[in-house]
Amino acid sequence: MKFFVDTADVNEIRDLAETGLLDGVTTNPSLVAKSGKDFIPLIREICGIVPGTVSAEVAATDYETMIQEGRYLATLAKNVAVKVPLTPAGLKVCKALSSGGTMVNVTLCFSSAQAILAAKAGATFVSPFVGRLDDIGEDGMGLIKEICEIYRAQNMKTEVLVASVRHPRHVVEGAKLGAQVATVPPAILRQLFAHPLTDKGLAQFVADWQKTGQKILPAEVQPLKTRA
Ligand code: E4P
Repeated sequence: MKFFVDTADVNEIRDLAETGLLDGVTTNPSLVAKSGKDFIPLIREICGIVPGTVSAEVAATDYETMIQEGRYLATLAKNVAVKVPLTPAGLKVCKALSSGGTMVNVTLCFSSAQAILAAKAGATFVSPFVGRLDDIGEDGMGLIKEICEIYRAQNMKTEVLVASVRHPRHVVEGAKLGAQVATVPPAILRQLFAHPLTDKGLAQFVADWQKTGQKILPAEVQPLKTRA
């Protein structure tokens, strides 16, 4: 499963990219507004940090402006995926851009019927928002399950990108169901590493190792420089 981070915060992206486990980034207009930065230089900067796919969302809702915005966003870097909303005009833009070889992420997907349309429009990714469905008492992961089944049955190539992730179980369940990608807020991505028994076990190993008085590295090995 690929991990994208769902943020427009460059410091967070830089930090998480250093783990070597980050496959891409998703942004949206709300995240860009929160960053307080100018959108176009921001996307260029993010694309320079992460070699994987970076989703940049159009701002317009009409076909004519969306297609122009999408074509422009695609020129910013090779790893841009143009993000379009799951509307008739958005899917028309998706079809036009994907036919020309541009990666497209169809966002704001809330039903399997919408996901079928996104795949037919040639989307590289479809983004079902599981957390927002859970928030209104619906079954976000149930939607992921159904879309994965449909795409498998129909041999549809669009990747299922689990979006609006609220906790690590959304990621784990998505992986079990065969979703190819999860886009995860930075704090939840960090939670994926954590388990109290890992911390407890490591503290015990460190304490027991110190009792041996041994060192693994011979004296002549110089320490690596640490980050400032
Ligand atoms: C997906 O690409 C969206 O940016 C995101 O996952 C939305 O999540 P939210 O419901 O937490 O805003």
